[in-house]
Amino acid sequence: MFNIKILNQHNKIFLLGFMGSGKTTLANKLANKLNISFFDLDKEIEKEAQLSVVELFEKHGEDYFREAEKTTLKKTIKNNDSFVMAVGGGTPCYSDNMKLMNTSGTTIYLKYDAEILALRLISVKSERPLIKDLNEAELIVFVKNKLSERERYYNQSKFVLEGNNLNVDDLINLVQ
Ligand code: S3P
Repeated sequence: MFNIKILNQHNKIFLLGFMGSGKTTLANKLANKLNISFFDLDKEIEKEAQLSVVELFEKHGEDYFREAEKTTLKKTIKNNDSFVMAVGGGTPCYSDNMKLMNTSGTTIYLKYDAEILALRLISVKSERPLIKDLNEAELIVFVKNKLSERERYYNQSKFVLEGNNLNVDDLINLVQ
C-alpha cells in the first residue's frame, strides 16, 4: 500500500546535489525500497559512450560531456516509467535539465555544507575530472565557489533535504 501511494505520486524521482553528497548510494537504496529501477546518470552516459566520465572529459572536453548528459537524461526519462535516478552534480545546472526533471517527476536536493562536501570528496576525487588535480586547499575553495554558483539551480528542487548523515528513511519520509 505504502509503496503504491509513493509510486502514484512520484514515479520518477531525481536525487540531485553536489559531487560527494551520496546521491548514488541513496538513490540505489530508495529504488530498492520502492521496488523500482535505479539509474546513475553518469553510468548511463558511460555505457552509451563506452568511455568513463574522466575519459570523456579528457578526450572530448566538458561541452561534449554536457551534451551527452542532456541526451542521456532525456532518453532515460522517455524510455522508463518509474525509477530513482542519481544525476551528476552539474546536471541541473546545464541546458533545460532542471526544468525537464521538474516537469517529469520529483526532484530532491541533498544539501550539505561546502566544508563537509570537500572532506567527503578528498578520498574519491580521482574519478571526478573537475577536481581530480586539486590539492586539499584548492578543493575547499573550488567546492565553496562552485556550490554557491550552483545552488540557485539545486534550490529549484521540489524538496530540499538537509543534514549531516542523510539516510534512506529521511527520503521515504519526504516522498510518502
Ligand atoms: C560533475 C559531477 C559528476 C560527473 C562529472 C561532472 C559535476 O557526478 O557528472 O564528473 O559537474 O559536478 P557526481 O556528482 O555523481 O560525482
